[in-house]
Amino acid sequence: MSDLKTLCQLEEIPDGDSNGFAIETTDGKRISVLAVRQGKAVHAYVNACPHIGSPLDFTPGRFLNVEKTLIQCATHGALFRINDGHCVSGPCTGKGLSVVPAIVEGGTVKVRL
Ligand code: FES
Repeated sequence: MSDLKTLCQLEEIPDGDSNGFAIETTDGKRISVLAVRQGKAVHAYVNACPHIGSPLDFTPGRFLNVEKTLIQCATHGALFRINDGHCVSGPCTGKGLSVVPAIVEGGTVKVRL
């Protein structure tokens, strides 16, 4: 059974940019989550590249390409769409990031794990 858990406050993610968080699942597993903010909307994914499973950020919390239009894996440069995590370029083209359903409630970002 999944639960809504607080990931962070919306203000902890700069608008148009990203940040990374560690969160514990209901069964006690600690996972790393990346979150991208677009206004009042947040897209969140498990911070593991579908290529070889590495975290995507080389610099903590920085997940976007220079133009801030796509999520970029720092290891081999795969690019993913922000809105659905689908890989559009790189060694895992056609695969996708694991979605972490996220909602924003009164300035708090909550995720379903
Ligand atoms: S680990 Fe992400 S592109 Fe290779």
